[in-house]
Amino acid sequence: MTFSNKILLSPPLLSGKEQKYIDEAFKQNWIVPLGPQVDAFEAEILKSLQTKDHFAVAMNSGTSAIHIALRILGIQTDEEVFCSSLTFIASANPILYEKARPVFIDSEKSTWNLCPKALLKAVETKKKQGKIPRALIAVDLYGESCDYIQIEEICKHYGIELIEDAAEALGANYRDKQSGTFGRFGILSFNGNKIITTSGGGMLICKNEADAKKAHFLITQARDQAPYYLHSELGFNYRMSNISAAIGLGQLETLDFRIKRRRAIFERYKSNLSGHPFEFNSNTGFSNSNRWLSTLLFKPELLKNNKTPHTFLLALQAKNIESRRVWKPLHTQPLFAQTDFFQSSERSNVSEEVFERGLCLPSGAQLTDSQVDFISEEIISLLK
Ligand SMILES: Cc1ncc(COP(=O)(O)O)c(C=O)c1O
Repeated sequence: MTFSNKILLSPPLLSGKEQKYIDEAFKQNWIVPLGPQVDAFEAEILKSLQTKDHFAVAMNSGTSAIHIALRILGIQTDEEVFCSSLTFIASANPILYEKARPVFIDSEKSTWNLCPKALLKAVETKKKQGKIPRALIAVDLYGESCDYIQIEEICKHYGIELIEDAAEALGANYRDKQSGTFGRFGILSFNGNKIITTSGGGMLICKNEADAKKAHFLITQARDQAPYYLHSELGFNYRMSNISAAIGLGQLETLDFRIKRRRAIFERYKSNLSGHPFEFNSNTGFSNSNRWLSTLLFKPELLKNNKTPHTFLLALQAKNIESRRVWKPLHTQPLFAQTDFFQSSERSNVSEEVFERGLCLPSGAQLTDSQVDFISEEIISLLK
């Protein structure tokens, strides 16, 4: 596969600063899944989240971070866990790792994120059934924050622990708080297509030091303190490699540029495509998305004329432009057949509608204005 002549959705972007951190790690022989670069990366992430009240634990993936959060909460077999439906499967897979059961929540119309009304309905229904789930995984979709004022209020009122899946949202904020810092746990991902990459990696952001210590313990095979290898609990090998952390340090140096550029790309698509039958997601009015992926919503009249996200995806592919369908809602995935799902209203199933009508466009920070214009022109020409 070559990265050169195809316009990719969100390819990795080297800042040129990575090598010096990698060289340092090599010189010091820290070629292991711990070391000064891991410590420094955790500290730098907390700085970028503008918090002194949190603790960061680097891991080998964002999925691992979600798993560890559930593990710390002690989620048991057959317990239910609330989760956004419109998201990548990694948000919910860790629920299955624990043999627990997801209860999926629909999106709200404006942001496509977890709908507080649907959440409330789900909570009330579960209360009537006898047990309110103890945890909620709320996803900041495509870099846009959920409406946490309402979500936190519901969680607090009903004693639900919030896990903020901010895998796609590093650098975004909501009411001046950075995405990843809401709830008892936040999680970030640094896989290859994210706003910064460590080639693969993630981070658990903890509100309590005790949770962070427990996370460290669990990701290092749960080794007890003893002069030999003693284990009384099941653990995991989820640590981040020191070399990955070194890459992350170099990537972080240009985070501001990456966010600015992705926001500019979103605005350019919006302006280029204005007056055409497309919409874009809006925000809560109090949030600032990092615009990880610019995503287009086809107006219903287009679909009636057989101009669909799928036909556009194929036509763009023929022009060497990679686009991607919006996540297929998890409550519609065969893996999650027969799980509970709560719609945003009786008449409106927002997540399924966004899936039918949405298309993610190339959004990498290296995309030039003329490439954005070229993609926009191709999209407009497909309307004819
Ligand atoms: C919303 C969401 N949650 C979780 C993940 C999992 O992150 P990772 O790929 O680092 O395991 C991803 C990305 O891959 C994601 O987009």
